[in-house]
Amino acid sequence: MALFLILLLLFATTILAQIPRPAAQCSGYRATNIHEDVSYMTADLILIDNCSLHSKDIQNLRLLVEYQTEARLHVLIEDAQKEVYQVQEHVLPRPKTQNVTANDAALKFSFTQDPFTFNITRPSTGDVLFDTSDSPLNFESQYVRVRTSLPQNPNLYGLGEHSDDFRLPTSGYRRTFWNAESPFIPNHANLYGSHPVYFDHRGESGTHGVFLLNSNGMDIIIDKTESGQQYLEYNAIGGVLDFYFVAGPQPAEVSKQYAEIVGLPAMMPYWTFGFHQCKYGWSTIDHVAEVVANYSAAGIPLEVVWGDIDYMEEKRDFSTDPSRYPLDRVRALVDNLHQNNQHYIQILDPGIRRLDSYGPYTRGAEKRAFLRASDGSFYRGMQWPGEVVWPDWFTPGTQDWWTSEILSFYNRSTGIDVDGLWVDMNEASNMCGDMNCLTSASTIITTAVGKNPHQPPPLPPHHRRQTTPPRKTGHKLGLPDRDLLSPTYPIASHRGPLSAFTLYTNVTNADGSHQYDTHNLYGSMMSAATRRALLTRTPRKRPFVLTRSTFAGVAAHAAHWFGDNASTWDHYRTAIRQLLGAAAVQAMPMVGSDVCGFNGEAEEKMCARWALMAAFQPFYRNHADVSAPDQEFYRWPLVGEAARKAVGVRYRLLDYLYTAMWRASEQGRAVVSPLWFGYPGDEATWGVQTQWFLGEALLVSPVVDDDSQTVRYYLPKDVWYDFWTGEKVVSAGEMKRVEGVAWTDIPVHIKGGSIVPMRANSANTTAELRKQNFVITVAPGADGTARGELYLDDGESLDVGDKKSVITMNWNGKAVEASGTFGYDTDVVVERVVVLGDGGSRTQEGPWGLRKAFTLHL
Ligand code: GLC
Repeated sequence: MALFLILLLLFATTILAQIPRPAAQCSGYRATNIHEDVSYMTADLILIDNCSLHSKDIQNLRLLVEYQTEARLHVLIEDAQKEVYQVQEHVLPRPKTQNVTANDAALKFSFTQDPFTFNITRPSTGDVLFDTSDSPLNFESQYVRVRTSLPQNPNLYGLGEHSDDFRLPTSGYRRTFWNAESPFIPNHANLYGSHPVYFDHRGESGTHGVFLLNSNGMDIIIDKTESGQQYLEYNAIGGVLDFYFVAGPQPAEVSKQYAEIVGLPAMMPYWTFGFHQCKYGWSTIDHVAEVVANYSAAGIPLEVVWGDIDYMEEKRDFSTDPSRYPLDRVRALVDNLHQNNQHYIQILDPGIRRLDSYGPYTRGAEKRAFLRASDGSFYRGMQWPGEVVWPDWFTPGTQDWWTSEILSFYNRSTGIDVDGLWVDMNEASNMCGDMNCLTSASTIITTAVGKNPHQPPPLPPHHRRQTTPPRKTGHKLGLPDRDLLSPTYPIASHRGPLSAFTLYTNVTNADGSHQYDTHNLYGSMMSAATRRALLTRTPRKRPFVLTRSTFAGVAAHAAHWFGDNASTWDHYRTAIRQLLGAAAVQAMPMVGSDVCGFNGEAEEKMCARWALMAAFQPFYRNHADVSAPDQEFYRWPLVGEAARKAVGVRYRLLDYLYTAMWRASEQGRAVVSPLWFGYPGDEATWGVQTQWFLGEALLVSPVVDDDSQTVRYYLPKDVWYDFWTGEKVVSAGEMKRVEGVAWTDIPVHIKGGSIVPMRANSANTTAELRKQNFVITVAPGADGTARGELYLDDGESLDVGDKKSVITMNWNGKAVEASGTFGYDTDVVVERVVVLGDGGSRTQEGPWGLRKAFTLHL
């Protein structure tokens, strides 16, 4: 393992150290046959001179510009024949155009004809947001390049998944998009997901977003030219230029507008906001039962217990180990959990053991559910169980097979009654480093599973160029005659060549597309298939799926954790940056890191801080590797104390979080956002990456330095209230420095102008929590008013219909008025209202029912 990691590191440092090379100039395209209408335009783009930098120029392109909504402009540049690969509609449905008049739109498209270049401006301010005029585009069979000039030192965010600064570096920076298993989540490297979207924040003049809907491998370079011109450049190894520009201008609006493109996030069940405990290495069911008992004894609420691959027999999906995890004992444990209102989730990996005596394999083979190598045999690789085959998510047979395996193994009467599923290793991660499986991910794995599987004989070099049978034009499934293994533009994946440690990129999917083009979609498609399977299993309940690998739009199907981080202070801080990127920019609200870190040994103080910090983040799961010592919160007194406090306060705030999640699922509003979302004009906020807003009212500012009890945080110019004491803090826009922060404390402030609904008491489970009454905390802003929202429903139905309450609360300085819809029938009441203020707080005792509108005077 160590040797492998060193080699990986060496490789990564060599490839990552190369300075991005500016692409040579080609002449680009000339626009002809231009047709302009009030809400769209089209043109033909004809290649001016052959250039073929890395592959074959495509002679004829087609431009479509659509003013889709007032805030959204769509620019599509595709090949005229429509053969070049485009992400299948069923994988990522496109937003519909509302055909607004160009004059009514917040963004404007302009172009030059010869060569064709374009820019996007914001007419209200005159700002140029995107400008390709310095460099004509390249559109080749295996290389697509477009460059936009940008103002100096732009504030750019997004382009995940990465572990770099939240505000992206502006020179010599390269972001590679190629989903890859990425142990220790290295910096400046492609990680598990691909989200080619960035937000560009320009202070008072507004924020906008740019999304390139393209799943191909890609490097995005942010740098300056020799003359000092700032730019951002896309270098994709295929696909089309399918841009969506969204206007904001408020940052929070950009989040919503992006979510409208890729799909609103799925609403999560209420219980999933409880605390989760997982561990790779709970070798027996007794061990799991002990953990459950220990949490209970320690008085730390445990909502969800997870089953990692330990439960499986020889690490095969849909099996339980007869001696370590006998089915009847697993069933008994799950029954017991359910009786106590706790939940259970299990892992599934995509690699299906290739063995004639293994039902899931033979049934999948019958349904033609697996990918095939070019000789027609199943494409094989290696994952935890040894030699495996891989589901091909592009055929309906695979969905049928996957659903039926899930239905039968997770059958309530005979199998394991899980409450959700965890899909992992779905980049897809292949432990074979090369086609013949002569190198593998680690020697440990090789010894664990035995001999590497034999692959179909290596193809002679001339066969490596994949040809696709002739197809009708307009299929958008990929050009024929490309080198699908080694394109000449080498994207900088930290795992090496495209096919290293994943599925070979010349593998053809059932619909005729190739892994070369669809690689980055594998994890999202597995998530969607798993969600659909769970919906078949329990049609009326919201499914819960957690996925490691992601693509834009994944949140419509699944939650996400940030993969195999380490138990270090550095990764504790990284978790905040990743949270901000995913939740605020990438429209993925239900996210979190492995709390206390996955790899290595967690240290007590760090784990205490992490337990507290993660309680204020949406997905809250402690998880560690098989090689790491157990790290449940109760194992250290200090961590236990921190966790009791953390989980307690999280649960009291759970409906506040749930309300934010509902807003995200309805409108795309971000559940977590950076400081600058709230204070876009305040330059001091733009680079902050150690604080975040949970919902719109709570600003979380944890201690972030190693082993430190001192925190420095920024409070923008506003009225704030200490969340814990209620003390009012009027800030002129100041850095605060607080020393002596206890290991069980975390600074949190309520933003003036907010109303925060909380449960009066915490509880052991979220089911018990739902029975607790509310306390409403009013935190008046500078103008003396405040507002907040509370959303209530049954917590689990997929479609709650009218049975929901959406309660808006307004404080006008004298009274709280609660109005809205009150369709959710509940006995729970508002017990107390607390109004924070100068000389301490004022309290008014209730109760006020939550079945109809009420006004309460103070
Ligand atoms: C991968 C996952 C990790 C899991 C392990 C075993 O490394 O990222 O969370 O514990 O596989 O299944």
